[in-house]
Amino acid sequence: MSANIVIGTQWGDEGKGKIIDLLASRADVVVRAQGGNNAGHTVASGGETYKLHLVPSGILYKDTLCLIGAGVVLDPKDLLGEFDDLSKRGISFDNLKIDPRAHITMPWHIALDGLSEKFRGNKDIGTTHRGIGPAYMDKYERSGIRFYDLVHPDIFREKAMSTGRLKNEIITKVYGGEAIDLEAVIEEYIGYGQRLKSHMADVSVLTYEADKAGKTILFEGAQATLLDIDFGTYPYVTSSHPLSAGVCIGSGVGPMMIKGVYGVAKAYTTRVGKGPFPTELFDATGDYIRDKGHEFGTITGRPRRTGWFDSVIVRHAVRVNGLSALCINKLDTLAGLDTLKVCVAYKRPDGSVIRDFPPTLEGLEGCEPVYEEFPGFSDDLSGCRRFEDLPEVCRSYIARLEELCECPVKMVGVGPSREQIIER
Ligand code: GDP
Ligand code: IMO
Ligand code: MG
Repeated sequence: MSANIVIGTQWGDEGKGKIIDLLASRADVVVRAQGGNNAGHTVASGGETYKLHLVPSGILYKDTLCLIGAGVVLDPKDLLGEFDDLSKRGISFDNLKIDPRAHITMPWHIALDGLSEKFRGNKDIGTTHRGIGPAYMDKYERSGIRFYDLVHPDIFREKAMSTGRLKNEIITKVYGGEAIDLEAVIEEYIGYGQRLKSHMADVSVLTYEADKAGKTILFEGAQATLLDIDFGTYPYVTSSHPLSAGVCIGSGVGPMMIKGVYGVAKAYTTRVGKGPFPTELFDATGDYIRDKGHEFGTITGRPRRTGWFDSVIVRHAVRVNGLSALCINKLDTLAGLDTLKVCVAYKRPDGSVIRDFPPTLEGLEGCEPVYEEFPGFSDDLSGCRRFEDLPEVCRSYIARLEELCECPVKMVGVGPSREQIIER
């Protein structure tokens, strides 16, 4: 009996997919509890690379039960696209179940995501344009369409027609956009519902029963701590709770089930989309990290902003998630830099120094990172398999991150594949 959570500690894309894939090899059940197809999780396995969006990263193991919980917003068209792509690569979806409570992302959500971003002008969030915010808005406004509705054509038709009419008013009259052909969308989506209906099951019950039966459960976080709707850099965040606590709400289990929380970080920091990023680099070092680390968005292909490791944000993540362990990925990417820097605190415009991440953008404004410097290394780390194989400079870099973040580092990533994770 063991249930663990894997979450992101920075602004996403920390390499959660890789860590989940490794831990999933020891799990019976993998559960997604929040977010939607704004996630892009890369799993490199057996010489193949998979980019997973809605499908839990346990899918590569044929006997693993993969669950999509109530807290997820599900784009059925995109999910079926993933099914089709992965089926061609020999992956089966028989073991994938979707909670009837999960909300459906409809075409008007995607349209409104784009239109509202455009309306914000240069104050746009830089969303993934997957309709995530508008879908969660409907959920919390209590007018959303759920997976149960999607698989019942009569219920779906009625709900989609009434909400779709209202959305068309907003799209055309508020934003001057183009109306959606509701009849066509309803027919199309009824078809998706019929294809997906055999996957419907109560994820809360399945997870609870699995735990009682002594199975190993892994909760797969999407997005990351600094993108959390409350504890991230609001409003430059996503619309769900990517924190460890979000897992309980989003899958329907109690917190006492959880045995450990793994927080994944890169050995530096990246961010895709807009919003504050205190340690961002605008120089050749930033470009070097972007190129060497292939830092381009999995979903949108946007270049990721790059910067030094920020222990202020990761320590924030340790606290708000109750992390039991950190996994530091992409240490190999830093090879070749003369000096490494780690942000240990922020200096405010009034000269005071803070170590806790400020709760508001106003509090963050004008904060300058205070850096500690480390000697760089040029060794190729990709073949290291034990912590002792790492050069001394890397080991002391990791030791210092542990001290600063107040959390033990249990895994170190030295390459994209499952084998390139050093476990301690
Ligand atoms: P996720 O969203 O957190 O699952 O991360 P993404 O898949 O969006 O981005 C992480 C990228 O880094 C992917 O291209 C991974 O294959 C790659 N990656 C993960 N860990 C490592 C590592 O330790 N070293 C290197 N070089 N690449 C890694
Ligand atoms: P994974 O799971 C990185 C970012 C977007 C944007 C903000 C809001 O792969 O780590 P949204 O479409 O959610 O309304 O966009 O959140 N964002 C991510 N950035 N990784 C992700 O997921 C992200 N999911 C959303 O770029 O800044
Ligand atoms: Mg990603």
